[in-house]
Amino acid sequence: MTPPPPARLVDLVITGGLVVAPETTVPAAIAVDQGRIVAIGQPDALPPARETIDATGLFVLPGAIDVHVHFREPGFSHKETWTSATQAAAVGGVTTVFDMPNTDPPTGSVAALEQKHAIAAAQAIVDFGLYGLIGETNLDQLEAMAQAGAASFKLYMGSENPLVPCPCDGAIVEAFEIMARLGIRCTVHAENTPLLSWRGERLRAAGRTDAAAHLEQHIDLAAVEAVSRTAVFAEWTGAKVHIAHESTRHSLPHIRFAKDRGVDMTVETCPHYLFLSTDDGARLGENFMRVKPPVREPGHAGPLWNALLDGTIDILSTDHAPHLRAEKMRPVIWDCAPGFPGVETSMVLMLAEVSRGCLTLGQYVRMACEAPAKAFGLYPRKGVLAVGADADIVLVDMEKTGRVAADGLHSIGNATPFESFEIRGRPVRTLVRGATVALDGRPVGTPGWGRAVTAPR
Ligand code: NCD
Ligand code: ZN
Ligand code: ZN
Repeated sequence: MTPPPPARLVDLVITGGLVVAPETTVPAAIAVDQGRIVAIGQPDALPPARETIDATGLFVLPGAIDVHVHFREPGFSHKETWTSATQAAAVGGVTTVFDMPNTDPPTGSVAALEQKHAIAAAQAIVDFGLYGLIGETNLDQLEAMAQAGAASFKLYMGSENPLVPCPCDGAIVEAFEIMARLGIRCTVHAENTPLLSWRGERLRAAGRTDAAAHLEQHIDLAAVEAVSRTAVFAEWTGAKVHIAHESTRHSLPHIRFAKDRGVDMTVETCPHYLFLSTDDGARLGENFMRVKPPVREPGHAGPLWNALLDGTIDILSTDHAPHLRAEKMRPVIWDCAPGFPGVETSMVLMLAEVSRGCLTLGQYVRMACEAPAKAFGLYPRKGVLAVGADADIVLVDMEKTGRVAADGLHSIGNATPFESFEIRGRPVRTLVRGATVALDGRPVGTPGWGRAVTAPR
């Protein structure tokens, strides 16, 4: 009798960990070959491997997918680079990011998309999708941008930024018709621009320069109206839409109404809306708090949490929007750069909540991995640990403790509003397509390892 041929060697086996999916957490080993998961099961049933990672005592999660980041290049390298940002992502357990188009130049043409792709592909250590910008003057180029590899498109329905002006409703409806035809989900910064402009001018004319004026400008109504208008336009055109950075409990009934009547709408919220309120201004600096849409008064975070847990809000993203601290701390509120870094701290903040019993790891995997992958057409290649999926894997040690500290973050604009937040549970190793890109809080990936998630089509 001839012995059976030896099983083929695979690249990697991860043994001893608890593999987390939205509905299950089970002990299992994972075999990886050529960047993909090739087997999951009992360790003795898996093929032999060139390398073994012992994950005893650790949880094994799919890498998080952050569909809302601003990695700032080209144009604003002093705030962030693709190197610093993807290092932050990798350390934070994020293996895929979708980068927003409000760069300089904005990502509103095939040429700009290709320019950003070259920058990202040279530096990134995690995978990435690039948003194309929807403007009034480039509607005839959206299809070409999609063919050139735009992963999704961004509509600035609420914008005072001249780089990315808000198109008129006529152009928005035409853009949605194009998106519907292309079958691409469109992400919307849903605020009412005329309302923001009018109120902003009135407040400035009244001499207001204080932080509260930012909230008075960005009243909840601006978001509520834009969310419901987006739903009506999406319903009419058949476009798939995604509501960015939901900030107010007042939008939630409108989101539920849209979903109930069958609008293909997904919604995200971000840690700053879940963990902060205007009460934090005293500690952090009132002007430092500026973000669009604003962090609102106490009373919103609870309903937003509930909506995230019941699925009204589908996705946890970060709106990672790094600026230098000095840019955020100017005396006049209108001059303060809006936004916070978030890509490195989102998972640890949520793991701390898991430790407190406020959600399960499975729920976290649903909102941070599975739901974004499904919404943006990456599932089941990403967002799940299953045979055939990319080996985007995060090992989590729920016993690791510490505190969030800005100077420990990898972003250039590291001005986190979560300074000193307690950590219980950390990602200790992050793999992108089978390669380790972060280990024990340090980025170790090779720049250029990160790949675009959508090839030119
Ligand atoms: C974002 C930025 O800085 O690019 N700022 C913010 O306050 N969220 C822009 C945006 O997401 O609208
Ligand atoms: Zn926005
Ligand atoms: Zn944003």
